[in-house]
Amino acid sequence: MKLLLLGSGGREHAMAWKIAQSPKVEKLYIAPGNAGTASVGENLNIKATDFEALKKFALDEKIEMIVVGPEDPLVKGVYDFFQGNEETKHIAIIGPTQKGATLEGSKEFAKEFMERHNIPTARYKSVTQANLQEGLDFLASLEAPYVLKADGLCAGKGVLILPTLEEAQKELKEMLGGMFGDASATVVIEEFLSGIECSVFVLTDGEHYKVLPVAKDYKRIGEGDKGLNTGGMGSVTPVPFADEVFMEKVRTRIIEPTVNGLRADDILYKGFIFLGLIKVNGEPMVIEYNVRMGDPETESVMLRIKSDLVELLEGVAAGNLDTKTLELDPRTAACVMMVSGGYPEAYEKGYEITGLDKAAQTDSIVFHAGTTFKEGKVVTDGGRVIAISSYGDTREEALAKSYKVAEMIQFEKKNYRRDIGFDL
Ligand code: AMP
Ligand code: GLY
Repeated sequence: MKLLLLGSGGREHAMAWKIAQSPKVEKLYIAPGNAGTASVGENLNIKATDFEALKKFALDEKIEMIVVGPEDPLVKGVYDFFQGNEETKHIAIIGPTQKGATLEGSKEFAKEFMERHNIPTARYKSVTQANLQEGLDFLASLEAPYVLKADGLCAGKGVLILPTLEEAQKELKEMLGGMFGDASATVVIEEFLSGIECSVFVLTDGEHYKVLPVAKDYKRIGEGDKGLNTGGMGSVTPVPFADEVFMEKVRTRIIEPTVNGLRADDILYKGFIFLGLIKVNGEPMVIEYNVRMGDPETESVMLRIKSDLVELLEGVAAGNLDTKTLELDPRTAACVMMVSGGYPEAYEKGYEITGLDKAAQTDSIVFHAGTTFKEGKVVTDGGRVIAISSYGDTREEALAKSYKVAEMIQFEKKNYRRDIGFDL
């Protein structure tokens, strides 16, 4: 089969690495990819949201399946673009329809969906300029801290957690006044939930589903989960507190109502569902839905999928995922993200990365997150640069292996957290 994967981060390198292992793959292209994906497939100089260019390429090269990594193309309707067109509807798209992608694209839509299908989540109120007073009153009825979420996509920056009512009411007005442009014209106010978070990934064909390995990611830049939010500084799987009892609740109270709810609402969804969950007094609640895999969770989750991923994706496309097997590796996998100095604030790009040859001789797997080629060299090209993933019989062993490789890889101003997994 000829496949095309959309995206350019560490998540996409990890997916490409796994897809390329399938004997079913005749050719794998990545649009646009990075210096790492070039080692497992062929990069294309096409943006993941340039649907017309993707269509032309897919038809010329007889692509049979498009796997969508990031949310952007999904929210922009890549599924509908290909599946709604006679010329391209034979190409399987792994990812939801535009309507399905609204689960991530609009926090208000996601909350209404959960309310409609009795899926446990924080109490909330959705506010615009028109009912600002109701929002201020709702805030006053809650206890500190206060959670404000811009309705639309804000590249992970749209959630504010405020310690006092005064600040929350002030920020609510600023958000509605355009702090995040149109994305915060509607704001979801939520009750604050206290607990420990994990990421649950579900693959669905719209009717059947498989639960992929549960992971935990580390979003803050600083050790001990301090400092600014980032795209993610590391991940581990499995997650000890997501035990059988907890996961049974997740299946019956969250996953099944979600998959069935999508069908009941007539929303076609063939792809990954990422449930951002929080365990509150032993009970799972949904913090957010994403309509893709997590990054950097994918960089550890892919290591634990033993089965042929392409075969599973074929099941998604054909609607017979129930006939496919998902075999998992019982070992632990951990990923440590190396980032550019200064990230998530201003940072520089274009620094040469050395030590990759030495790292390649270890049994860790080096995924590129933000890299590119310059004059024949691999250079830094983003905030998150390299994700180092390793297996271990224990979490400590897996992390120790990744940290050893993190010392081998050099680039100017490199930074990484030395405490991934510290809270488990
Ligand atoms: P989101 O973009 O919705 O994932 O929110 C970003 C982060 O904010 C989450 O990973 C949580 O750590 C935190 N968060 C979001 N909603 C809540 C909530 N209702 N209670 C506590 N923390 C929250
Ligand atoms: N790691 C969180 C995310 O991908 O959104």
